[in-house]
Amino acid sequence: MNALLSVADYERLAEERLEPGPWAYLAGGSGDEWTLRENRAAFERWTFRPRVLCDVSEISTATTVLGNRIELPVLVAPLAYQQLYHPDGECATARGAAAAGTGMGVSTFSTRSHEEIAAAAPGILQWCQLYVFQDRGFTREHLASAEDAGCSAVVLTVDTPRLAQRERDLRIGFEVPSDLPLPYARDAIGTAPSNPADQFALLDASVSWRDLEWIASEGRLPVVLKGVVTADDAELAAEHGAAAIVVSNHGGRQLDGVPATLDSLSEVVDAVAGRVEVYVDGGIRRGTDVAKALALGARAVLAGRAPVFGLAAAGEDGVRHVLELLRDELALALCLLGCASPEELTPAHVQRSRS
Ligand code: LAC
Repeated sequence: MNALLSVADYERLAEERLEPGPWAYLAGGSGDEWTLRENRAAFERWTFRPRVLCDVSEISTATTVLGNRIELPVLVAPLAYQQLYHPDGECATARGAAAAGTGMGVSTFSTRSHEEIAAAAPGILQWCQLYVFQDRGFTREHLASAEDAGCSAVVLTVDTPRLAQRERDLRIGFEVPSDLPLPYARDAIGTAPSNPADQFALLDASVSWRDLEWIASEGRLPVVLKGVVTADDAELAAEHGAAAIVVSNHGGRQLDGVPATLDSLSEVVDAVAGRVEVYVDGGIRRGTDVAKALALGARAVLAGRAPVFGLAAAGEDGVRHVLELLRDELALALCLLGCASPEELTPAHVQRSRS
């Protein structure tokens, strides 16, 4: 019997079901994929220090992000081109996330609009992931559409002034199909076949801290700054109006050689000292990974590939089940750590076991 008991089971099924191109693009990283591997390896370097006799008869995994309640401290990360993985794309992801009681980030390179996603999963917590085009007209329209559709935050991704070299994609000749709907990018890109790096060349690499202030002040939505891994930038993010930070190395897909996000987390948490919320992404496959990230100071994690393995394997139900697996594994970990809720996790619940 092929029971789907873990995210790893969904990962295997997703690889079986997808064509080699979309699989390479989803699973791969940049350069030697050292950072991609490190994101996972770091979870094995950190071990638990459970406490006992703590009354764990009632466990809650719920928390809030920017004031919005979610039933588990896991959001679906913005991940591009989701129709490559399932015909319903982001709409299926949204329904699965909503069924599991959480929200999602929606990529600038999404294949469904914020309106379509809101209609597919009414009431879902939706965050608009923003890349700034050289032509700011596209970016203004994108922001207006996000606000009109009820998005509650803008996730400005700042580690991608250029797309890094992804050798798996280049070897396989991965291209974004020219008929893939891209409501926030197709007008800028046009309809000729293109690879993701060509599409990213349309973005504005001159974006600076001033643009964070522009987006934070022009829009009505709080800005989550994604792609920060140092205390210096965390400090600047707080000073320039970010409401939250995602400690992220873009899933090991941008600068190869940056540390695992779990290893960068404490530096950022210490630097912001509670002024802004801190989330982390990169390599989340188990509820125990979520527990380690929360113990090190993250308020929530973002998971991109894990729910999309569910999407590729089994559509909306797969997304929901992957998130429920993470929720149930986290609830078990909390119970065995002696914590009744995510807020009770502290750095004293983990230790770095070897270098
Ligand atoms: C990537 C972009 C789309 O990582 O964020 O491929």
